Amino acid sequence: MSDDPLDRLAGVPLAARTPDGVAALRLLLTRYSVSAKRLRAPGPSADDIATMTLAALRAPDRNKMIPFRFVVARGEGLHRLADLFVDYGRRRGKTGDELATERTRALQAPVVVAVVARITHDDPEVPAHEQWACVGGAIGNALLALHFMGYAGKMVSGARAADPAIVAAHCGDGETLVGWIAAGTPDGPPQARGDIDPARIVSEF
Ligand SMILES: Cc1cc2nc3c(=O)[nH]c(=O)nc-3n(C[C@H](O)[C@H](O)[C@H](O)COP(=O)(O)O)c2cc1C
Repeated sequence: MSDDPLDRLAGVPLAARTPDGVAALRLLLTRYSVSAKRLRAPGPSADDIATMTLAALRAPDRNKMIPFRFVVARGEGLHRLADLFVDYGRRRGKTGDELATERTRALQAPVVVAVVARITHDDPEVPAHEQWACVGGAIGNALLALHFMGYAGKMVSGARAADPAIVAAHCGDGETLVGWIAAGTPDGPPQARGDIDPARIVSEF
């Protein structure tokens, strides 16, 4: 076992069988969300987004239903998203600075990836909750891939993700706008959230 303190996290030894495994676990266990206001250029390129998508597609997915897709906003796309947020604010009676904040909300991160879920409700083999679990796995894997590539990100949703006009701009029939992954280069080291003792949620059957 290595003496490097990074090879023990939450007091747990990272006892992978290969050095690659230890390195992968180290990276995985140091993934933290970084909010959009702390994300800078460069954001993930088209190739990086393809890599992120491959990682998302490694989420466990019974019968390969692929119950999600991504919609990437960068450049002009971010301005279109900002227009939607401003329109959302206007419809809620916001004015002036509050509307400027709505615009900024969409423009902080260099890349914003909408997560759209497509859950099949009458599948004879894969119930909806399993498909949702796959969507969650995909989001987790996507965030991990961004972290592995030297970016950071944060998944956000909130009231805007449920707004009918914003949903209509992203989703087709039967789809759900889960929210957005803000992605970019973190402005500093990510802040650890504090380790949670694994024993809290693990028991023997
Ligand atoms: C589907 C989904 C939606 C989320 N929506 C929000 C949100 O709107 N606002 C927020 O602060 N965190 C939201 N979160 C949580 C953050 O993405 C993040 O996981 C949380 O701040 C904990 O940080 P950590 O990932 O570093 O542990 C959401 C997470 C998921 C999976």
